[in-house]
Parts: sequence; C-alpha cells; structure tokens
Amino acid sequence: MHHVILSIPPFLLPKKSWNILMSDLENHFGDDAYVEEETHNIILKFLEQNSAETSTKEAAFMILDSLKNKDIIAITKSNYWKKTHKNIDNNIFSNSLVKSKANCKACHNDIEKGLIEDENIKNISSFTSYM
Ligand code: HEC
Repeated sequence: MHHVILSIPPFLLPKKSWNILMSDLENHFGDDAYVEEETHNIILKFLEQNSAETSTKEAAFMILDSLKNKDIIAITKSNYWKKTHKNIDNNIFSNSLVKSKANCKACHNDIEKGLIEDENIKNISSFTSYM
C-alpha cells in the first residue's frame, strides 16, 4: 500500500492532488489501498508537509506551474510530465520491462528517494531490445 502511494516523492504533486488521492484511495488502487484512519492521517500529513508547494526543487516548481490548480492526481497527465517525456517513444512505455507510464521506477532508479536527476535515470535505449 505504501508502495503505491509513495512510488513518487511527495514534492512531485501539490497538496490538493495528495488530498484528492488520499480521500479516494480505494477507488484508485482497489481494496488493497484501504488504511486505518490513524495511518491515513499520518500519511496525508506527511504528503502535505512535503508537497510541491513546500519544495525548492525545480521539478516541483514546474509541476505547480503546469497544473495551475487543476485537480490532477496522476502526474503523467500534467503538461510538465508530458513535456519532459515527449522524446520517449510510446513503444518504450508499453514494453515488457516498463509496462506503463506510471511505472516511474522502471526508468528512474531512485525515484522514491526523490532522485529524478539525469544520473539516476536508466539508459532507456537499453529497453528497445525488449520490444
Ligand atoms: C520509460 C522511462 C521513463 C518512465 C517510465 C518515466 N520517466 Fe521520467 N524521465 C525519463 C527520462 C529519460 C527523462 C529525461 C528526459 C530528458 O532529459 O530529456 C525523464 C525526466 C523526468 C523528470 C524531469 C527531471 C528533470 O529534472 O528534468 C521528472 C520529474 C520525471 N521524469 C518524473 C517521472 C515520474 C514521476 C514518472 C512516473 C509517473 C516517470 N518520470 C516515468 C524516463 C522515464
């Protein structure tokens, strides 16, 4: 469960998105995402305190700017994400090692630790041999 929610670092989504996401966990991720109220509140507080608004990272700033207060909970729907991934062939996202755009970790080794810099991104051309 934690894995699903925290598969992207909190600074990549605004407070509002984390709120919407956390208020509707079961619908988005199935029954597995149900958590006790106390745990839920701890997670939500953590996400809010570390959301994009609180970050000085460039990516956080860009996300906020690109979402413009829209109710987006999937970062892949943001213009910022689309722009930063526009050079990646769609076949790469659907190949067996990646499977989905939401599988950030397939390419960003340490994304859950907040490391999104180039040196933490795998060489995606290595995926092409698995198409
Ligand atoms: C198929 C591989 C792949 C997947 C899957 C992927 N990314 Fe990326 N991502 C990249 C590559 C490659 C770049 C660098 C693009 C460039 O510099 O031209 C990048 C760039 C980024 C950047 C910009 C970093 C910067 O400072 O410029 C962010 C933020 C990011 N990805 C977040 C995510 C998140 C969050 C997810 C999952 C929802 C995700 N990515 C899924 C390959 C991927």
